[in-house]
Amino acid sequence: MSTSIATPPIGTERFRYDTFTQALHWLTLIAVAGTFVSGQMMEDMPRGTAKAQLIGLHVSVGLLVLTFTVLRLARRICVPPPDPIPGAPLVQMAAKAMHLSLYLLLFIVLIAGMAMVWAKGRTVGFFGLFNFPPLIGPDRDLAERLGEMHEIGANLIVVLAGVHAVAAIVHHTMLKDGALARMLPFGTPRHG
Ligand code: HEM
Ligand code: HEM
Repeated sequence: MSTSIATPPIGTERFRYDTFTQALHWLTLIAVAGTFVSGQMMEDMPRGTAKAQLIGLHVSVGLLVLTFTVLRLARRICVPPPDPIPGAPLVQMAAKAMHLSLYLLLFIVLIAGMAMVWAKGRTVGFFGLFNFPPLIGPDRDLAERLGEMHEIGANLIVVLAGVHAVAAIVHHTMLKDGALARMLPFGTPRHG
């Protein structure tokens, strides 16, 4: 039987994120890993066609992260997330703060990335299909500052996502509260 916003899911399904949100969560992880690794590779490459192609791919996959994040937040507004995992209020607040920080950092890195490309006087393209019209003009100093912001933000995402993943795994394996199953289509998300 299908569930809708009007008929909330019953049983353990109440404690699981919906399939669309789960898919976007794991696609975001793969795309962020790809952009982070390609970003690191670009830093050591000499200027040339290979670097330009890698930057083009990095920008396009970065735009996919932006699309996934916007879709995820839109979905979150339509379908509220499951009740939080039971625990001390301070721990629940820390989990909320972590999720909020990850969303904020994603936007900071993505917007700084796009603005940096425009400030360098280049175009932001999506897999060669189309280009976004620039919202700012060339500005070397600004490009440099946005580049720093982009790099610090990307490093912070990796650190916070690492802590977030360890917390989820510890919950699931040691506290045995089915935390990972909340973001997976299998396993039993427990509550209480
Ligand atoms: C979550 C998504 C992203 C992550 C994790 C990420 C990460 C990184 C990292 C680690 C670097 C190397 C450090 C640096 O040189 O600044 C980098 C460079 C770069 N990123 Fe991203 N990035 C993301 C999305 C984007 C987007 C959406 C754009 C543009 C639309 C973009 C444009 C660039 C450019 C142009 C560089 C190279 C700067 C240069 O050396 O010339 N990135 N990124
Ligand atoms: C770039 C990497 C990642 C990002 C940006 C990210 C981001 C997020 C965000 C924002 C949420 C909250 C969803 C919401 O309520 O709207 C979330 C939930 C979750 N994430 Fe991640 N995540 C990442 C990687 C991982 C990894 C590697 C794991 C596990 C190994 C993981 C496991 C989970 C689980 C189990 C939840 C549900 C937690 C709960 O219900 O309290 N995430 N993630």
